[in-house]
Amino acid sequence: MKSILILYYSRGGHTARISRHIMQAINAQQHHCEMMDITEASKEGIEWDKWDAVVVGACVLYGTYDKSVFAFCEQHQQQLTEKAVSFFSVNVVARKPEKRLLENNKYMQKFIRLSAWKPQDIKIIAGKVDYPSWGWLDSLMIRLIMKITDGPTDPTAVIDYTDWDDVAAYGEHIIRLTDKA
Ligand SMILES: Cc1cc2nc3c(=O)[nH]c(=O)nc-3n(C[C@H](O)[C@H](O)[C@H](O)COP(=O)(O)O)c2cc1C
Repeated sequence: MKSILILYYSRGGHTARISRHIMQAINAQQHHCEMMDITEASKEGIEWDKWDAVVVGACVLYGTYDKSVFAFCEQHQQQLTEKAVSFFSVNVVARKPEKRLLENNKYMQKFIRLSAWKPQDIKIIAGKVDYPSWGWLDSLMIRLIMKITDGPTDPTAVIDYTDWDDVAAYGEHIIRLTDKA
């Protein structure tokens, strides 16, 4: 039985939901998986030796990631480099399948460029548009970006672009990652 920890940053809850789905897929295979908010992990610390693999996930907000994600990766650069670790990015640009490839996704390229820790294994996951839950300014800004990129602009739109079967398959991929550890 392998032990896997998912560390995530989620602003609106969707990245947390994706993390839970990965966790459930891993636990369904009789492995042990837990998830923890990056902010909580930064405060409480991590027992690195306990985990065979670690997953770090974060949502994209205005073209980048919350600074707590970069700070965490810098602080724990050594542990992350020594372990089997995968990084996943959640963004709505990835609603277009070709944007789930590293060469076409500027947010994943940006993470690799700016992060002190350079992930060896990555996954790009399409997130959720939820205008009614976002503040009016955020909603307006994203609708403007969507207008330019042919996305939904209806202010009442709630669209989940996540391919949940693919998220579960990613969980199984993480189990295989522990074999290399
Ligand atoms: C304020 C804000 C800014 C966002 N900026 C981007 C962006 O620049 N590019 C993008 O592809 N998605 C962007 N998104 C979409 C989020 O990445 C997507 O909604 C994701 O599912 C949010 O995850 P969360 O619920 O865990 O915060 C943005 C969302 C919000 C609320």
